[in-house]
Amino acid sequence: MNLYETLAADIEGQVARGVLLEGEKLPSVRQTSQRRSLSISTVLRAYSLLESRGVIESRPQSGFFVRPRPKASARPAEAPKALVLSSEVDVSRLVLSTLRTIRTQNAVPLGSPYPDPAPFPWTRISQYANAIARRNQHWSVMDDLPPGNPQLIRQIARRHLENGLAIDPSEIIVTVGATEAINLCLQAVAKPGDTIVVESPTFYAMLHAIERMGMRALEAPTDPNEGINIEALRSILSQQRVAACMVMPNFQNPLGFLMPDARKRELVELLSQHDIPVIENGVYDELYYGDSHPVSLKAYDTKGLVLYCSSFSKSLTANYRIGWALPGRYTAQVEKLKFLNTLTTPSLPQLAIADYLQHDGYDRHLRQVRKGYAQRARMMAAAVLRFFPEGTSVSDPQGGYVLWVELPAGVDAMQLYAKALERKITVGPGHMFSARGSYTNYIRLNYSYPWSKEIEDALRTLGRVIGELL
Ligand SMILES: Cc1ncc(COP(=O)(O)O)c(C=O)c1O
Repeated sequence: MNLYETLAADIEGQVARGVLLEGEKLPSVRQTSQRRSLSISTVLRAYSLLESRGVIESRPQSGFFVRPRPKASARPAEAPKALVLSSEVDVSRLVLSTLRTIRTQNAVPLGSPYPDPAPFPWTRISQYANAIARRNQHWSVMDDLPPGNPQLIRQIARRHLENGLAIDPSEIIVTVGATEAINLCLQAVAKPGDTIVVESPTFYAMLHAIERMGMRALEAPTDPNEGINIEALRSILSQQRVAACMVMPNFQNPLGFLMPDARKRELVELLSQHDIPVIENGVYDELYYGDSHPVSLKAYDTKGLVLYCSSFSKSLTANYRIGWALPGRYTAQVEKLKFLNTLTTPSLPQLAIADYLQHDGYDRHLRQVRKGYAQRARMMAAAVLRFFPEGTSVSDPQGGYVLWVELPAGVDAMQLYAKALERKITVGPGHMFSARGSYTNYIRLNYSYPWSKEIEDALRTLGRVIGELL
């Protein structure tokens, strides 16, 4: 290609990808000539080529502009793109695709892992953030180096205390969401090639962390009401070397169980006999339906082997991406890894959440949210059993906002996912929750959104599609 053709192709590409928007002014011929080290005549030739192709237009006295394209409504609506189905499901790609689809296709978000943001005190937190930004004119990134902002750390320690767990604030490391906390903790306790025991099914971020670090996930049988099978775990530990265990004892995603306290104690004791660290995911801890906050494994830990990870993503706001880890005897390693990973967690979100926790109505907000989720858990379960074909069964979540649905044998959840997407409905296919391709006839449904005709219709449609797949 000649120089002018290359320039024209670059600009056309930027328009096609939405970097340059309709009606947007292009840099002047002189500016482009300077920036790209091209002659004026080359730039002019490129612009007139684009004009002749209808990509841009010149406006007298004003310059060159991206031409409006025919409106989307003039073209037939494009069907949402489904993932290519393959026997080898790439879990992380599938998850990312589901999240993107919910956003871009405006689909019914039954497949979303995040709660409905509507009842969250976004405006209040933003007000704190605005006030902080006005007050702090001379901020330095060095103010909040790991372990994190001291004010937020104090608030997190207070919250744990209110929930029945006295922790040393010097153990808290602020992270970018629970995802970073989980990744850092795993990296602190294991190395590539190690075996990590997880629940089965398990939350996919646990699998992503294991995959990312070149470790091996070993899925242990997990009771839908009581959690990881301790006898099975005992047998695994007697047969092979395990570097760590990753569990979610409270309102596990996707099963929703609350592990009984006696079993939690047994689990911690078993692992500490073998000196094996356990990464505990506590992101749903605040979303209990019972009378009191659940106990965490950390409460039974006498050897510093429990690395607790949590965040405000499910209870306050996911957008600020504030999480934390309590890494027990691994605190120094996790702190160092945090520093190496992202240097610091952004200060403004840390301070805004700290102010909210200190001055606002976190408990009130949570009481309301829990009440709504508990009601919708029952409604969603009843609707699924009503609309889905015989042979369907559902979990009995004790907290959180997801329902685990077993479909009749033979229904492939990936096919359902693709067909549902064509109807602008998302579901979480069971494939996401296992590294060995289990749960192909399971889906996870999010019930955090207020009950509506749209949701009921979506469930009815899913039931019909499942019938067709059968
Ligand atoms: C069980 C579980 N753990 C961790 C996360 C990630 O949390 P965060 O958004 O704080 O990184 C999620 C979010 O989907 C989750 O459902």
